Amino acid sequence: MRRPPTTPLLLLLLLLALSSSLLHPAASTTSHENLLKFFCKHTNFAQLCLKSIHEAEPALPTVNTATVLAALIKAADAKTREARAVAQNLAAGSGFNARTVELLRDCIDFYGEALDHLESAKEAVRAGDPGTRDAMLSAMISDFSTCDEGFEEFGVKSPLAVWCQTLRNMTDNCLAIASLARPQGGY
Ligand SMILES: *[C@@H]1O[C@H](CO)[C@@H](O)[C@H](O)[C@H]1NC(C)=O
Repeated sequence: MRRPPTTPLLLLLLLLALSSSLLHPAASTTSHENLLKFFCKHTNFAQLCLKSIHEAEPALPTVNTATVLAALIKAADAKTREARAVAQNLAAGSGFNARTVELLRDCIDFYGEALDHLESAKEAVRAGDPGTRDAMLSAMISDFSTCDEGFEEFGVKSPLAVWCQTLRNMTDNCLAIASLARPQGGY
């Protein structure tokens, strides 16, 4: 007896439906975005977390703890370099008195130290050493706070206050995502 022709047709339709739901760009963008939101919800600054990832890795191929952390680290690195360039421009300009220029120069150094600490944090991630990773990220937060404290000490309003605040928040987000990694060095 001949097989009814409906069976292969149904199978084909089923396959088409499956593949379109898997490949449909809107559907996959939504689940990608939801996955990023899921990770960023575990941070203290979720909006900033999403924005950082979108800027650093507009097309993150796979979303997991390791790739989200790498994207947040890349974003913090870029933002610190941006802040340092801003500080360099402000210090080189003629808009500030000698004291403020001196404080700006200190902050340029602190931004440089923050970049070194971030580099060490990245190495610790590669080496599967969460203790060093978290110590380096915490040191980075202190670098930004020390920049602010210099201005506070002389009662000068820091032109870098918003930069330092954003950078602290971004680094705090790195710490939060890093803590989701499995403790035994598994990333
Ligand atoms: C950073 O954190 C401070 C203090 O919690 C908050 O007031 C500020 O809005 C945050 N900034 C960003 C960009 O998340």
